Amino acid sequence: MKNTRRTFLKSSIALASALVLPTCKTKEEEIKQSSLVSKDRYDPWIEVIPEAIKYNVKTLHRLSGNKPILAVIKNNGYGLGDVNVAKIMEELPEVVGFAAVKKEACLSIRNEGIKKNILHMGMATDQDFFELAEKDIQLSIFNPGMRKLLEDISGKTGKSTKVHLYIDTGMSRMGIPFHKAMPWIENIAKSKNIEIQGAFMGFTEEPDYDKEQLARLKMLDTEANQKNISIGKLHAASSNAIFHFPEAALDMVRPGISLYGAYPTYPEIESSIAELKVAYRLNARVVRVEQLRKGDSVSYGRNYIAEKPVWVATLPIGHADGYLRKAVNGAKVLVNGNLYPVIGAVSASHTILEIGEQPTLKVGDLATLVGPDHPEIHPSHLSNVTGVSVYDVLMHMNPRLPKVIA
Ligand SMILES: Cc1ncc(COP(=O)(O)O)c(C=O)c1O
Repeated sequence: MKNTRRTFLKSSIALASALVLPTCKTKEEEIKQSSLVSKDRYDPWIEVIPEAIKYNVKTLHRLSGNKPILAVIKNNGYGLGDVNVAKIMEELPEVVGFAAVKKEACLSIRNEGIKKNILHMGMATDQDFFELAEKDIQLSIFNPGMRKLLEDISGKTGKSTKVHLYIDTGMSRMGIPFHKAMPWIENIAKSKNIEIQGAFMGFTEEPDYDKEQLARLKMLDTEANQKNISIGKLHAASSNAIFHFPEAALDMVRPGISLYGAYPTYPEIESSIAELKVAYRLNARVVRVEQLRKGDSVSYGRNYIAEKPVWVATLPIGHADGYLRKAVNGAKVLVNGNLYPVIGAVSASHTILEIGEQPTLKVGDLATLVGPDHPEIHPSHLSNVTGVSVYDVLMHMNPRLPKVIA
């Protein structure tokens, strides 16, 4: 099977051992953490780990030859909360700005006090483009009719409208096709009220074609320069390219998932290039501990039947919270330092663990389903055993899950 970033790796024995454990927490850190996590809560929550995000920013910066980072915070900051992660990165000199696809994400981080550049990478209505520009959010443009609109917006805001040219070099998803772009750029560049701050593209992440795509963007830049047009800072590299295509770092890199500690495509290879730290924990507390008799079954479909008396524990988190339906294919959960396998079907709001011949867990115990504390709860490992893309492991967490900053 061809491996793309949106697919998962076929079973890989080396993976769990390749996922590095973080250094042990100090007592002080443990105390800080436990005081933050509400003792009276059973229902799931996400714990965001700022130190891990900061560590990943520095690692990616180094990996991309110290290029500035335009941090992607789309899809609710990859599940961790767009405002949370933007606030953590706002103070870091390596991060020059933020990028998101939806208007709401851009506006919400601006309204929450983010001062750095924000790039909107999506399509919007005329009114939305105006609202974004009014808040000094840079617009991605790719439509033929944009010049008139941008000039009208500039007339209303009283300042020039800042844009990045979105160039389609081969994804056929968003952007103006590179072979149609030059006359369009010339037209935009004529306007005194439009400031071209950058030009960008996305890779298909197919290594040979990526090279071709990069050449197309560079050619366009050269052509524009020959016509005395500056198309600003060039940016193309998402996480995959930062790891696998260093020449694509250009003027700025644009990572998303790796900021949050997950490896984009080939975890064994990427973890050997640079260690990332998982930047969140998905937690819940045990709500029920019970002994099954031989022959008792577990959950919908009865695909687990106890072969002998065994204790099981229920966690109040399920696929509606964003935990993986396919967790039963080999996922484990960390409770009190031990791993317990998920058994039976994960239902919308519950997950069941086999805990063994003794009732070693009790109601109220803290369970971590995803996090940095053991290789077998690393997002990349969960992706590997369940066959779910690592992007889904993060981005499909229910946005309503409460978040605590560790
Ligand atoms: C245009 C664009 N740039 C950058 C990224 C970041 O990608 P990744 O999360 O793989 O680093 C994305 C996310 O899919 C994107 O859509």
